[in-house]
Amino acid sequence: MQIYLDTANLDEIREAASWGILSGVTTNPSLIAREKGADFKTTIAEIANLVDGPISAETISLDAPGMVQEGVEYAAWHPNVIIKIPSTIEGLKAVSELSRQNIRTNVTLCFNPTQALLAARAGAFIISPFVGRIDDTGVDGMQLIREIVTIYRQDPEITTKVLSASIRHPRHIVDSAIAGADIATCPFKVLQLSMKHPLTDRGIEQFLADWRSRSE
Ligand code: G3P
Repeated sequence: MQIYLDTANLDEIREAASWGILSGVTTNPSLIAREKGADFKTTIAEIANLVDGPISAETISLDAPGMVQEGVEYAAWHPNVIIKIPSTIEGLKAVSELSRQNIRTNVTLCFNPTQALLAARAGAFIISPFVGRIDDTGVDGMQLIREIVTIYRQDPEITTKVLSASIRHPRHIVDSAIAGADIATCPFKVLQLSMKHPLTDRGIEQFLADWRSRSE
């Protein structure tokens, strides 16, 4: 399973890229807005300079022609730009048209398997089920990943990648990988937590203390 970073913060992207684990970046309008004063196009171009992999840029139109227009514009910014489109009927129309123009899409805000199946049939490159936001409603979000993976694997015509989104903690990463997701997109904080273990810290301290106390 590949790891993407779910952020528009260039410092976080630069740092995670230096770990050698990053295969792509996802953004959304909320994440872009969090980076005060940053221009959308410039931000996407700067991310593309830091990471050699798919970078999702989200449309804000509600109708298919508007989504297609935005998608064509964003895709021209860099070959790695993937167009994020919401899981709606207008979204399906936009995905199929963008796919016809060889522009890759990431169908976002997916909350049920039928949205995922139809997005794949329309030609989505990536589907983004929102695990954490489903968990927030008291329902097991990971079950959606399992169902989509099962549906996609049974259909040899479907090549759409399953991207586990709305990741809230390291266990979500583990369970996404076990469920067969192709990608997990993670907030930077969750990636940092993923490499923390008190026994690792204690082990390092002990090794150093023993090393210093060795008799030569
Ligand atoms: O980028 C989409 C998704 O990962 C958002 O996550 O935490 O806002 O539910 P969250």
